Amino acid sequence: MRFDAYEGHRGWINYLAVAPECQRRGIARQIMEEAERLLRQAGCPKINLQVRTANAQVIEFYKRIGFKIDDVVSMGKRLETDKPS
Ligand SMILES: CC(C)(COP(=O)(O)OP(=O)(O)OC[C@H]1O[C@@H](n2cnc3c(N)ncnc32)[C@H](O)[C@@H]1OP(=O)(O)O)[C@@H](O)C(=O)NCCC(=O)NCCS
Repeated sequence: MRFDAYEGHRGWINYLAVAPECQRRGIARQIMEEAERLLRQAGCPKINLQVRTANAQVIEFYKRIGFKIDDVVSMGKRLETDKPS
């Protein structure tokens, strides 16, 4: 997970992932609890993150740990094309 984006307004979580063989043991919940603790300590009032709408399982995970879908439109402007992997 990357946890590097509290800009004084929102704390952004990027790239949370647990290895498939270690999933469903509470690891991601613990990581997010620690991230929340650190953000609260820093005075952050809200955590934001983005999940692709097709990633239904991850959306279910975040709902399970207390996140709600915000009534916002996420907008972006790509400045470079995706590199082939
Ligand atoms: C999403 C992910 C991080 C969850 O990690 P995890 O360590 O397995 O999650 P936890 O074990 O901490 O689960 C916490 C809770 O969420 C639930 N949960 C986890 N994965 C779930 C799923 N796919 N569907 C529904 N609920 C789920 C668990 O049952 C648990 O609930 P409970 O404590 O009430 O029983 C992991 O599945 C993952 O790495 N996915 C692929 C990477 C990815 O797409 N990341 C998001 C990028 S935006």
